[in-house]
Amino acid sequence: MKKKFVLICTGIVFFLNACSKDDTPSSAILATPVANPATEITDASFKAKWNFVSSAQNYLLDVSLSPDFTDFVTNYNAKSVNDLNDIVMNLTGGTQYYYRVRAARGTEISNYSNVISVITSGTFVNPDTPLKVKAANNFFVGAAVSSSRLSGAYNTLITTEFSSITAENEMKMEAIFTGPGTYNWTQADAIVDYAVANNINVHGHALVWHGSVPSWMNSYTGTDAEFEQLVHDYITAVVTRYVGKVTSWDVVNEAINDGGGTRNTIFLQKMGANYIAKCFQWAREADPNVLLFYNDYNTSTDISKQNDVYALIDNLKANNVPIDGVGLQMHIKYDSPTRQELQTDVDKVLARNLKLHFSELDVRANSNDSQVLNTLTPERKSAQKMKYREVVEVYNAIPTTYKYAITVWGIKDNESWILNQFNRVDWPLLFDNSFNRKVTHTGFLEGLE
Ligand code: XIL
Repeated sequence: MKKKFVLICTGIVFFLNACSKDDTPSSAILATPVANPATEITDASFKAKWNFVSSAQNYLLDVSLSPDFTDFVTNYNAKSVNDLNDIVMNLTGGTQYYYRVRAARGTEISNYSNVISVITSGTFVNPDTPLKVKAANNFFVGAAVSSSRLSGAYNTLITTEFSSITAENEMKMEAIFTGPGTYNWTQADAIVDYAVANNINVHGHALVWHGSVPSWMNSYTGTDAEFEQLVHDYITAVVTRYVGKVTSWDVVNEAINDGGGTRNTIFLQKMGANYIAKCFQWAREADPNVLLFYNDYNTSTDISKQNDVYALIDNLKANNVPIDGVGLQMHIKYDSPTRQELQTDVDKVLARNLKLHFSELDVRANSNDSQVLNTLTPERKSAQKMKYREVVEVYNAIPTTYKYAITVWGIKDNESWILNQFNRVDWPLLFDNSFNRKVTHTGFLEGLE
């Protein structure tokens, strides 16, 4: 009885062994893969390749800046790949990378392959380069600022990185126009004086905007003609005050609705459809040399709005209204607009022989409502960096005569208007909360290559 039991058990063990030998030959160690030279090398990516290993289920790819793999490119510390190649993306141009690969089957992992060295094309961009240095002589690199943030670390950063500033709020009507014939210049002067003292350009923003109408004007009880006179006097006073100090003004901001059509503002209601032309005319009369811009947002993706914005501009030009340029605000997202959508929009400005200002650039990384983030993921961070780079590349490629400035809408992430506007954490700018350059800054620099 006992003997029979032992025999049966031995039989089972033998049977199991035989089975495991047939299915997965555990005695065979996974062969070491052979890595092949990279192909499809660009300034931001390459294709890593290796040979097939019999019975491997996947491969573990390492990519590093150092030949001894003491650190790894983000996401490339044993990245699992099912194929025999992988396109390594979001890299820096003109930079030496190394890769190696292992074969894997479950927990069984082969030895490391040979190490392949690859240099991305293009030129290496030193991430410590200030933006204005890289863009020197081509166009201004600007930032939106406020008068309370012009000293200490702000001052150091602004004077190092930027060649232009825009008041984020303090040169708007609500800040300056305190009553009929009365003006508060304190904060606007502080910003302009700071720029003059530091040899920084000033872009004026914005003479007429429905989003910054003083409450006393909203409840104004005078006639329409008196209202129009107030606006005339305001534009004249502001533009005259800064002749020779402010290079350019957004004369009218956001006059077209989302989805198209003229925005029904107090200015339209009281001054009529011609109000835009009149504002440009008054600004020109106050300063014959200042550059006059029409400024708006979302024109690359909202095509009905785009059509109406350029129809408005064509109409101004057809009537010899003095306009020098278009500001595309560029409050954009990590995945939108596409390069093509942006290029089409940009080309419409150039086709009208007008200067182009990317006037309020920020790139939302947390704009995907179906995938809201609490912390910035490596993937989103890379995509956001590439969007910054793309935007700057598109701008940098336009003919010099059309260039004016790229202005970013703020300095530090935690002080960006985007966080309040969308009521969500985000990281839309070029500097972190401690004034450090982010990879978006490197993306901006790479766009200037
Ligand atoms: C925003 C400022 O960033 C905020 O601080 C303020 O509360 C509202 O205005 N388009 C424009 C800018 O032209 O003036 C706006 O700035 C952002 C949208």
